[in-house]
Amino acid sequence: MRVFITRVLPPAGLEMLQRAGVAVTQWTEKRNLSPEEMVSYCQQHDALLYAGGRGIDRTFLEQCRHLKVISLLSVGYDYVDMKAAQELGIPVTNTPGVLSAATADTAFLLMLAASRKAFYMHQRILNGEWGFSDPTANLGISLEGKTLGIWGLGNIGHVMARRCVRALDMKVIYHNRGRNAAAEKELGAIRVSFDELLQQSDVLSIHTALTPETKGRFNKEVFARMKPNAIFINAARGGIHNEADLIAAINNGLIWGAGLDVTNPEPMQADNPLLNMPTVAVLPHIGSATVETRNAMSCIAAQNIIAAMKGEPLPNLIRA
Ligand code: DGY
Repeated sequence: MRVFITRVLPPAGLEMLQRAGVAVTQWTEKRNLSPEEMVSYCQQHDALLYAGGRGIDRTFLEQCRHLKVISLLSVGYDYVDMKAAQELGIPVTNTPGVLSAATADTAFLLMLAASRKAFYMHQRILNGEWGFSDPTANLGISLEGKTLGIWGLGNIGHVMARRCVRALDMKVIYHNRGRNAAAEKELGAIRVSFDELLQQSDVLSIHTALTPETKGRFNKEVFARMKPNAIFINAARGGIHNEADLIAAINNGLIWGAGLDVTNPEPMQADNPLLNMPTVAVLPHIGSATVETRNAMSCIAAQNIIAAMKGEPLPNLIRA
């Protein structure tokens, strides 16, 4: 079995593939492959381990229907044309579970940073603007005992909620299609309507997938129904919020601020106004980026390839 990898893979997964006798080609250049390069490399390999790039569309899949598996180095698969993959019979796998804690930690970090204007304050020091001590300046918002609202309370949202309850004694409400009985039992989380989520959350954290239903859902009209002191956190997918509407909502005082690990579009341009707003904290989509987590993800992605090589059931087959 020959596998093409669109990035340099974290070492644990790479070693696993090599030990299993898989022949590996890694794309080592610091740029995305062009669509033509992707097709050309994949046509010379039996499997694709997709660790980043321009996404996987029908045009690519139609030219690479020989692939035994496309193993994604992510839990999200919104950038894959799953309908086309299924029609063409190409199995696609992901890496669920192992990145929940790291991603929740990123959401938690962004929540604290936005609430205390931390990234902006850091920038002011760099600009030589520390200034004199003023008891009425640089004020943030205390989070202790406040209400955390989660939209999409799955694995990642559950860890975020646990962090907020244990560290800050926050109350948890959530909006899901179904109930999350485990979070209700462990954290006293209360399921509410979407309207109640907007009206009651002091921090509203998004942990749902990007789908046609969630795309652009956080727009002008939705921000206007949130509390003026609310902090909007998105560590899921940038496509879920409308960025121009988010900027306007903060500028017009509809909400207090935001913490974003994902932006719309990505990458965010350096002149984006959000980067200079005191109550906003932005990170470049690093939710799962810890040594431990990326190694664990690479092992799961490798296991999916090895299973395909042996003709065994794929452990993390996406059945979208
Ligand atoms: C995921 O696993 O989906 C992360 O967001 C990385 O893309």
